[in-house]
Amino acid sequence: MNQLQVHVKDLQKWQVSEEFAKQIENFTALPALYRHALNELENKIDILKTEWQARDGYSPIEHIKSRIKDPKSILHKMERKGHEFTLDNMEQHIHDIAGMRIVCAFVKDIYRLVDHLCAREDIRVLEIKDYIAHPKPNGYQSLHLIVAMPLVLLEGTRWVKAEIQLRTLAMDFWASMEHILYYKFDKQLPSHVAEELKEAARAADELDQKMLRLRREILELAERPSEE
Ligand code: GTP
Ligand code: MG
Repeated sequence: MNQLQVHVKDLQKWQVSEEFAKQIENFTALPALYRHALNELENKIDILKTEWQARDGYSPIEHIKSRIKDPKSILHKMERKGHEFTLDNMEQHIHDIAGMRIVCAFVKDIYRLVDHLCAREDIRVLEIKDYIAHPKPNGYQSLHLIVAMPLVLLEGTRWVKAEIQLRTLAMDFWASMEHILYYKFDKQLPSHVAEELKEAARAADELDQKMLRLRREILELAERPSEE
């Protein structure tokens, strides 16, 4: 039974080409690479959160969640996008192997955070998709960034990609619910359901705006001298 366990270093004994053995070695090392990149990103965001809290008494970052895409979903996505399965294609075309979701209290916090991330030297922002200014037809709102971060390895510096999704609490509520509702339904949604879902997205948007107005009002009240 033990003979069935094959280790990468044994592959050469099996007359597998060196090139192939190298590919497998790289492939098994890849999830760790993305995990390291995500850890670094988490750390950067954590520092920001602490700094903002200390300076302004309030951090625009409500909470974060990160995940590494599971290999099955990576394969599905490559198939869906019509890419032949190679490591090069995977690194080049699948941008969300490392993914982070940052949930903020207010829309303007999202843009503050994006401005900050764009100005940093240790993060390259490669792409911005603003589904807040331009919601998807189903009502989905979020701001997506594709970034690259440097990982200093023995071989030198390697830039690793990650997808960051920024949303407000209300947008996150809508997107999570839509995912739950839609998950078990692989057909086209009936038009009245799709319309109601869109209506719910508009309600989430209104809630965001209402909270922002309330915040402004409360801040103004806090600045006004006491009338007593
Ligand atoms: P994917 O092939 O799904 O990655 O789409 P894309 O490459 O065009 O990227 P896009 O930026 O549109 O979407 C990336 C991710 O955003 C998805 O994997 C989801 O996590 C999220 N997302 C995009 N659209 C929706 C949506 O309509 N509803 C929900 N709940 N999430 C969405
Ligand atoms: Mg994507």
